[in-house]
Amino acid sequence: MASADQIKALLRSFVDRDDAQFLSIAMQVAAYEAKRGHGKLAEEIKDLIDAAKEQRAGRELLGRDPTPISRPRGELANLVSVTYPRDKLVRMVTSETVRERLLRIIREQRHFQRLREHGLAPRRRLLLTGPPGTGKTLTASVLAGELGLPLFLVRLEVLISKFLGETAAKLRLIFDAVRDTRGVYLFDEFDAIASQRGMSNEVGEIRRVLNSFLQFIEHNDSHSLIVAATNHPELLDHAVYRRFDDVIEYDLPSPAQVADTLRGRVHKFAGSDVDWAELGMVASGLSYAEITRAADEAMKDAIIGDRMSVTQADLKAALTERLAMRPARATLT
Ligand SMILES: Nc1ncnc2c1ncn2[C@@H]1O[C@H](COP(=O)(O)OP(=O)(O)O)[C@@H](O)[C@H]1O
Ligand SMILES: [Mg+2]
Repeated sequence: MASADQIKALLRSFVDRDDAQFLSIAMQVAAYEAKRGHGKLAEEIKDLIDAAKEQRAGRELLGRDPTPISRPRGELANLVSVTYPRDKLVRMVTSETVRERLLRIIREQRHFQRLREHGLAPRRRLLLTGPPGTGKTLTASVLAGELGLPLFLVRLEVLISKFLGETAAKLRLIFDAVRDTRGVYLFDEFDAIASQRGMSNEVGEIRRVLNSFLQFIEHNDSHSLIVAATNHPELLDHAVYRRFDDVIEYDLPSPAQVADTLRGRVHKFAGSDVDWAELGMVASGLSYAEITRAADEAMKDAIIGDRMSVTQADLKAALTERLAMRPARATLT
C-alpha cells in the first residue's frame, strides 16, 4: 500500500485540482510499490497514469478547456467572465524590476505545494498600478498563461452600478469561486471601490464593499491569485496597500522599451530601413497599448497596399498620428 503521506498528497492535489501534481504523486506511488516488490501493482498504476495523460493531451488538442469545471455557472456567470489565456512573460516588455517581481510570483505559485508543506504561502494578492495601456491587464493574462490557469475578470465598476445595495453579497459569491476554483481573478478598475473619494450617495455602500473585499482577501487562503488593477493609485486608501503581498508599479515605456515593443510587434514585417532607436524617440509619451496599435495600423496599411514590409516612414506616420490623438488617451484602457 502507498504511504500515508502519499495518500494525503494525492488528496491534496485532487482538492487543488492540480492534475499534474496528482499524476506526479501517482508516479511516486508506482515507484514505491515497484521497490517493495509489487511489480504488477506498479505496472497497473503506470498504465492508469498513461491513460490519464493521453486523455488530457487529447482534450487539449481538441481545444477544449483543460479545466471545464471552471466555467462560471448560474449567477456567477453574470459577475465574472472567464478566458484561458496563453500569453507568456516573454511577450511583455518591462523594466528588469517588474520582470523579476513577476518571475518571483510565478516561481512561488509553481511551488505552492512545497511551500505549503512548510506552512508557507506563495504571493497571491497583487496590486498593479500605473497609467492606462501599460500592461496591467496583460500581466493578469500572462500569469494565467504561465501557470496554465483560467483568468476570471471581475469588473468592479459594473458590479457596483448593476447591483447597488447588493454588491457585498455578490462579492461573497465571487470569493466562494476564488476558494473553490483555482484561477487568476482580476478585479479591474479597483479604484471604483478603493478610492478615498466617491459620490456622496454611494459612499456608504462603497465603504462596505471595500471592507468586505479587504476582509475576503485577508481571510483567503485559497490557491487562486487575486489581482487588483488601477489606473489611479493616487486615489487609493492607504490602508489598502498593506493587504497585498506585492504592489507592482507600471510605467510608460522608455525609448528603448518603445523600440522593443515595436520590434516585438512588427517583427518579420519590418523593412530593412527601420531604425528602431529613432522610432523610440518619436513615440515618447505613448503607452505600450498605443504603440502596439500604431504598429498594427502600419502593418495593415502595408498589407492592404500589397507591400510585403513596413517602412520607417510607415511606422513614424502611425506613431505621429497616435501622438496627435493624445488628448483622447484618458479614455483608453
Ligand atoms: N508591457 C507591455 N509589453 C508589451 N505589450 C504591452 C504592454 N503593455 C500593454 N501592451 C499591449 O497593450 C495592450 C493593452 O494593455 P493592457 O494590459 O490592457 O493595459 P492596462 O491594463 O495597463 O490598461 C496589451 O494587450 C498589449 O498588446
Ligand atoms: Mg486594463
